[in-house]
Amino acid sequence: MAKTQPKRENQYIKKTTPTLEERGISQKQLLQKAQRTENDEFYTRYEDVEKELNMYRKSVWKNKVVFCNCDDAVNSIDTNTSAFALYFLRNFTVLGLKKLICTHYAGKVDLFNQGPKGYIFTKYGFNAIDKKKEYPKNYTGSFDDPLSLKILHEEADIVCTNPPFSRAIDFWKMMIESGKKFLIISNITNPITLAFVPYFREGKVWAGYNRVDEYLNHKREIVRAAGSWYTNIPIKNRPKYNHLKILPLKEIPEKYKKYDDSKMLVVDHCYIPSDYKKPFAVSARPILNGLLEKGYQIVENQYFPCVNGKQGFRRVLVKKI
Ligand SMILES: C[S@@+](CC[C@H](N)C(=O)[O-])C[C@H]1O[C@@H](n2cnc3c(N)ncnc32)[C@H](O)[C@@H]1O
Repeated sequence: MAKTQPKRENQYIKKTTPTLEERGISQKQLLQKAQRTENDEFYTRYEDVEKELNMYRKSVWKNKVVFCNCDDAVNSIDTNTSAFALYFLRNFTVLGLKKLICTHYAGKVDLFNQGPKGYIFTKYGFNAIDKKKEYPKNYTGSFDDPLSLKILHEEADIVCTNPPFSRAIDFWKMMIESGKKFLIISNITNPITLAFVPYFREGKVWAGYNRVDEYLNHKREIVRAAGSWYTNIPIKNRPKYNHLKILPLKEIPEKYKKYDDSKMLVVDHCYIPSDYKKPFAVSARPILNGLLEKGYQIVENQYFPCVNGKQGFRRVLVKKI
């Protein structure tokens, strides 16, 4: 009798996705990454662009090439057009612009559904960058793509955009190193975030006029995130100086001044001592309101007050000059 063959075990190898360990990433990092990518797809509302840009003198824009390097522009429907591009297109003549260049990144979520494109507008009309045969095949539309960098360095006078939150550090570094003027939206905590503090400390950037709290997601629903305008365009008589309460220390209400476990003075609610000679700790708010233009300087890029052994929120140390 023929020997019965042993029943063959199923040979399927269960296909699994690599573990987080194999991918060298923790659960927390994965969630943060997803969150960052999602946060990149926040779009600026037209009214926020208009409110900020209307604050600057017309001479800032006159005869200038404006580069929106995280935006594309053109769609017959306004809601499908970047608010930055729309503002500059609508005000092209009034501002006396020489040129508007908009480039767009071919990311995963693409509100404007444009792909990696670029457009150049002048008073004579507009051109897609590719039509001028300047648009390399492998162009990604990224702000750090060689073509985008060429436009930045060789053509742009002012960069104006809301860059991806997840690439803010690279974007700021690129902008500061370029020496070009810029007006951009970024996180409201940047004045006390280690990667950005040196730029504020060295006077290479300051807050614009307004904060930005509402954006649109890709479904065009309102989403909230705390942002602010930042620029290196001079701002004279900043209206928010009025929010700073610069007073002799003894006149600052007790509840807004305390000494931490290291005897460091910590002030809140935009109260600033006018007669205190030593460094003291402040939050981002007074810096956004122009404290560094009022005779104070950052002396320590990062400080965490500790009260009764409990660590408080991040601050920077400032000192009267
Ligand atoms: C915060 S959204 C703002 C979009 C637009 N600037 C606005 O204000 O409505 C950031 C945009 O940058 C895009 N982006 C992501 N990475 C980019 C990169 N490397 N270069 C250029 N844009 C990028 C995202 O896809 C997203 O559309």
